[in-house]
Amino acid sequence: MTATGNTILITGGSSGIGLALAKHFLLMNNTVIITGRNLAKLEQIKAEFPEIIVFEGDLTNENSLAKLVLFIEKHHSDLNILINNAAVQFNYSFIEEKELADKIEYEISTNFTAPVKLTGFLLPLLLKNKNSAVINVSSGLFISPKKSASVYCATKSAMHSFTKTLRYQLEETGIKVFEIIPALIDTPMTEGRGKSKITPEKLVDEFMRNFKSDKWESYIGKTKLLKFIHKISPKTADRIMKNGL
Ligand SMILES: NC(=O)c1ccc[n+]([C@@H]2O[C@H](COP(=O)([O-])OP(=O)(O)OC[C@H]3O[C@@H](n4cnc5c(N)ncnc54)[C@H](OP(=O)(O)O)[C@@H]3O)[C@@H](O)[C@H]2O)c1
Repeated sequence: MTATGNTILITGGSSGIGLALAKHFLLMNNTVIITGRNLAKLEQIKAEFPEIIVFEGDLTNENSLAKLVLFIEKHHSDLNILINNAAVQFNYSFIEEKELADKIEYEISTNFTAPVKLTGFLLPLLLKNKNSAVINVSSGLFISPKKSASVYCATKSAMHSFTKTLRYQLEETGIKVFEIIPALIDTPMTEGRGKSKITPEKLVDEFMRNFKSDKWESYIGKTKLLKFIHKISPKTADRIMKNGL
């Protein structure tokens, strides 16, 4: 993939991994559009990086999703890279959780339904434009899940599977399909928990090497080791991950 001269949409680009990707792609002379739910956060980023284009909206909301697609079609029809990065992680017990239904619905919608729909809606543009790619962010937790984030891990397994089948479906087209499989990264999502986290910038460095050489799956940091352990002893990998890191 060519890492410069692209028009890139990054969902959840207002924080953590998405923001690090946005800054990097901006430095590499790309047009970068980021989305997030929090307008104040987006405005703060815009003040620091006036070239970044921002779009506010909760992607679980059908109207917001439709507005985003319309905004891209109308103002950025040269879009050639979609990065499905936005996600939430809820940690709770199925026995004790009082807002179970709302949490299940919101997490599945943010982490899986919205990115899958967004991909489908933007495919006509990606097919029309050159050097196109879809980049999905999953998680090492699809390899072995952790107990406390049951639905989150399930959405990441779904994302991993969807990314593979999307790649199969698009193999005769010019659209390349990448997957970023992060280990524990130091972002607001992991604030106050986890040990030996790596920075989002380190993730971007690792990913960019793979992106430029068309390596579809980027196992970041310790997810490489987890994949290896899981291959030789799935039970050991599951035991290591069960209670989180
Ligand atoms: N951090 C890790 O250790 C880790 C590990 C494995 C995988 N990942 C994956 O990496 C990706 C980025 O995570 P992160 O750690 O960078 O998280 P983060 O710092 O919490 O950022 C999440 C981003 O998504 C946006 N967002 C969340 N829900 C949204 C919704 N319903 N509609 C629109 N935007 C929404 C947030 O913006 P607002 O809050 O303003 O809406 C924010 O920009 C996620 O897919 C996550 O699952 C992270």
